[in-house]
Amino acid sequence: MDPLFYIKTFGCQMNVHDSDTISQILINKGYKKTDSINDAHIILINTCAVRQKAEQKALTLIGRLASLKSKKPDIISGIIGCVAQEQGTSLLKRFPFIDLVLGPRNIYHIDDLLDQIKEGRGKASSLDLTCEPPTLPTCNGYVKGRVATFLKIMEGCDNFCTYCIVPFVRGRETSLPAEDIINKSKYLISQGIKEITLIGQNVNSYNTKNNALPTFPGLLKELDSIAGLKRLRFITSHPKDLSDELIGSFGELKSLCSHIHLPVQSGSDNILKLMNRKYTRDKYISLIERIKKTRPDITITSDLIVGFPGETEKDFEDSLQLIDKIEFDNLFSFKYSERPKTSALELPGKLDEKEKQRRLSILQEKQKKITLSKNKLMEGTIQEILVEGPGKKGDSQLTGRTSGNKVVNFFANKNLKGQLVRVKIIKGFQNSLLGELVDKYNQKVYEVM
Ligand code: SAH
Ligand code: SF4
Ligand code: F3S
Repeated sequence: MDPLFYIKTFGCQMNVHDSDTISQILINKGYKKTDSINDAHIILINTCAVRQKAEQKALTLIGRLASLKSKKPDIISGIIGCVAQEQGTSLLKRFPFIDLVLGPRNIYHIDDLLDQIKEGRGKASSLDLTCEPPTLPTCNGYVKGRVATFLKIMEGCDNFCTYCIVPFVRGRETSLPAEDIINKSKYLISQGIKEITLIGQNVNSYNTKNNALPTFPGLLKELDSIAGLKRLRFITSHPKDLSDELIGSFGELKSLCSHIHLPVQSGSDNILKLMNRKYTRDKYISLIERIKKTRPDITITSDLIVGFPGETEKDFEDSLQLIDKIEFDNLFSFKYSERPKTSALELPGKLDEKEKQRRLSILQEKQKKITLSKNKLMEGTIQEILVEGPGKKGDSQLTGRTSGNKVVNFFANKNLKGQLVRVKIIKGFQNSLLGELVDKYNQKVYEVM
């Protein structure tokens, strides 16, 4: 029997992509993937260190592997990802039942390390932060059944926002060669993928550090011209690097979706400075205005931190006012969490947990209302939906997303997975929209032929 591996992923889209890459490497080596942790011969936990809570969640699951390992001592267990990089081989002491510690830049070594462990050569670790990402592996059939996928174009981050651990666990910013990205995109499309989301910590600085071509707008243009690619997205952009040329792409490229995730982090200039974000509130507002001018229907989402050290009531008010002004379609907001190695650890004016929670609740309440009213504004509009598969409410309901990345559920009597269809929005909810299928004359379609 082929050995089975199980992989659990915490954290962001980078980790989702890394878990896919690891799975592809292992399948190419003859392993099989299982969704059951109890059946697996190899258990891998891909961890996130961005906030204390995320790290704790992963460590709790790792702690639970102790009993599994005592029942089945032959299992190989590994900690991968950002917590692995942050805590290193100390994890092998803290969790003696763990065999492997693998940093995010070292995932490509996993097959050799598993061989080493299987051959009885002890525990293994690989934590070199300077590894260059190799050509992305492909695996026949791996993405079968999927409509959309992530594709990594960069690794690491050089921005050193003062609160953020990512530069310390993912290393220096490196762009993958455009040729590999284009080849992998073509391959994904040949496997049935219709929508590709390019990912990196700061995609709009693609290739600028090494002075290479194409830069990010050029890469988008090349990908847009590939036949069969219906939708192209990207995350995340840093406001300081959002060029006019990139804004222009939203008016030019047919496959580029009508959505931008542009993390603002704070509405206060004082706090933005302490965060080392390198833009002001006014600069951010003017970027949004220019994007909206180029693509009036664009959906705008963002990230925001409350309770950063030194955040006064006035600074917090500035964030609330910014939310009112911009009216984000969705906002991911977090309480500031102290992270090792980050320079914000040294800053004075730490806020207590209760105050951070109070601010977060006020902000989230405000945003909830904005999100709902934005979703309600879509009622009556016709949207193009890329169908991703059956919805939660049984067979007759399908689900997909608008170009603006909003989830839409609608009824249809046929599986339209992978197709772009026209849907009239009939109801806007907090987290999704409800719609009905319409024809090119905007008439409701009762039966799909
Ligand atoms: N590279 C991306 C996102 C990185 S992490 C970017 O720059 O936009 C995702 C989000 O987590 C960040 O945008 C930030 O809002 C949040 N975050 C990062 N470190 C944090 C910390 N120490 N405490 C709270 N939130 C944090
Ligand atoms: Fe972290 Fe800032 Fe880099 Fe984003 S840009 S990963 S928030 S350091
Ligand atoms: Fe978490 Fe690492 Fe992503 S810290 S947010 S998994 S880059």
